[in-house]
Amino acid sequence: MSIPSPHGGTLIQRFEPEFDISKVSNSIGIDKIALSDLELMAVGLFSPLTGFLGKEDYESVVQDMRLSDGTIWSIPITLPVDGLIATQLQKGEQYRLVLENTTYGVITVSEWFEPDLETEAQSVYRTKDKAHPGVKRLFERGNIYVAGEIILIKKPEKKDFADVWLEPKDTRALFAEKGWQTIVGFQTRNPIHRAHEYIQKAALETVDGLFVNPLVGETKADDIPADIRLESYRILLKEYFPRERVHLGVYPAAMRYAGPREAVFHAIVRKNFGCTHFIVGRDHAGVGNYYGTYDAQYIFQQFAEEELGITPLFFEHSFYCYRCEGMASNKTCPHEQEDRVILSGTKVRELLSKGEQPPSTFSRKEVIDVLINGLKTDVSV
Ligand code: ADX
Repeated sequence: MSIPSPHGGTLIQRFEPEFDISKVSNSIGIDKIALSDLELMAVGLFSPLTGFLGKEDYESVVQDMRLSDGTIWSIPITLPVDGLIATQLQKGEQYRLVLENTTYGVITVSEWFEPDLETEAQSVYRTKDKAHPGVKRLFERGNIYVAGEIILIKKPEKKDFADVWLEPKDTRALFAEKGWQTIVGFQTRNPIHRAHEYIQKAALETVDGLFVNPLVGETKADDIPADIRLESYRILLKEYFPRERVHLGVYPAAMRYAGPREAVFHAIVRKNFGCTHFIVGRDHAGVGNYYGTYDAQYIFQQFAEEELGITPLFFEHSFYCYRCEGMASNKTCPHEQEDRVILSGTKVRELLSKGEQPPSTFSRKEVIDVLINGLKTDVSV
């Protein structure tokens, strides 16, 4: 095995800082999610996408989890605008993509269309319930989708993440330099608890390198803020992981909470980073009770591994077992329910918000200390 080719064959590169923006006078306002999509497309993380999806690709992704040319793609990457704005657009024209008075990119508008948001919600999120954070956002974001090829002219500032943001071209070079033939990617939107640590280390037993790749873009309000999480990842890696076999790099994307479909998307993104394997555990990218515990694993049965181009590594729900005196799962532990400490990111968040200290069977003490300190000083929580 070796570092896989990017999805679709080519690492898309669309950062053009020298582009003469003075010729483009009209603009389209974008939100933070569209900005992150713009950047991630431009640096190749969403290869083979070169722009926001047109109607044909959009409908194909929603219905079949494939772009119209057949390439596997599970989450529609779209640019929603208000209907009124769409009436002023011209096909074939260039528009600045602007957030808070800053132009980050340019889109050459190819078309715009009215999506069927109900169908998108049901197909992508498996629910139309607006209590689902991804569905809620879908209905809030504008009812016309503008399509077209993009370029990025200014990279968004990374502030707290500058030293741990590597573009796919950089991770690919890094993995090659380290001589890693097999690399497992790990997605998380939570502080790393004992089950996360366990499944990453179990994976690391069989591959050359681990790419710890926390999502740091938009999340829901009750998730732990990314800057605090980052501090907890740093301390955990320093204290409990072998430095030469692990690399930390952020994934500055918005969380969709789309469960199974997002697991496929997450795997493709990690393939673009250069990973050969991707961890999918219990209720990956899930929220509430919208998805079955292993739905995000079952969805991979729909794709041949050679076509997907990255190997998913599935893990059972893991827990701490007092009788085993360590981490385990149903696959490895014969003991009773009452011997087990069932843990999850949600539980860690719940305890912290009540001012309670999660036990060391949940989370390493060093991590808890960082979280307690961070949440004390963070007014947004
Ligand atoms: S996610 O939304 O980013 O998937 P989270 O940060 O909780 O949420 O999970 C990161 C990864 O760890 C996912 O692959 C998830 O399935 C897995 N995971 C989380 N908790 C457990 C657990 N107790 N046992 C096994 N896998 C788990």
